[in-house]
Amino acid sequence: MGVTRTPLIAGNWKMNEDHLQAIALVQKLAWTLKDANHDFADAEVAVFPPFTDLRSVQTLVSADKLEIAYGGQDISANDSGAYTGEISGAFLAKLDCSYVIIGHSERRQYHNESDELIGRKVLAAVRHGLVPVLCVGETAEDLEKFGASAVPVSQVKAALADFPKDAPLVVAYEPVWAIGSGKAATAEQAGEVATVLRATLTEILGAEAADKVRILYGGSVKKANIAGFMKQKDVDGALVGGASLDVDEFAGIAQFGKHVTV
Ligand code: PGA
Repeated sequence: MGVTRTPLIAGNWKMNEDHLQAIALVQKLAWTLKDANHDFADAEVAVFPPFTDLRSVQTLVSADKLEIAYGGQDISANDSGAYTGEISGAFLAKLDCSYVIIGHSERRQYHNESDELIGRKVLAAVRHGLVPVLCVGETAEDLEKFGASAVPVSQVKAALADFPKDAPLVVAYEPVWAIGSGKAATAEQAGEVATVLRATLTEILGAEAADKVRILYGGSVKKANIAGFMKQKDVDGALVGGASLDVDEFAGIAQFGKHVTV
């Protein structure tokens, strides 16, 4: 204990916004945060646009010296070669990405990504100096059968079996039933699972490394409910889908410290 973890507010755009729209969105986000006197030491802000937008985002961020970080929504487990349609971590690193989302439930569900593949993707991210944002979470069915934390715990264990202890890591707890449903977990539910996940990380990585991992909550996060999540001792930020496309909403989430009530 005793490590200070800088909160991370991450916007997962999913398959929304072309590269021109991405420029406008990031620009507006930067202005809105500036107007609000956002201090990036209070909360780091990152966006995850589609791959085809990343070069434009990089150009804007570097030209305007923005403090907004960015990353890809997925990564290939392989570094190069005959893997049609895949994106290497080397390419993401070359675009100055800091992060990459891995194992989002939509990839697990629609692309049949297994825990084993997700583990290899996590290692690919580490090889290229990218911070993995490893997503875990239970479906409504899992919740009923096993409770909230069993599936996320087993997903974390599987994905991090060979993880180097000293590499930076973000874990996003996203109950599948809460994603895009408008029905977020309660702050207490999210906080309880985050605490169990930190205990799991302690088992796998040791206490010192586990203490440094930022655990995000994701699933219908809004300006109106972020403060409650941020009050939980093991919740260090949010992975935001729908609300990340609305600049006022997303900037409001990043400014969670200003919301006094939940
Ligand atoms: P949501 O999505 O905020 O729209 O629920 C979260 C996510 O899928 O990362």
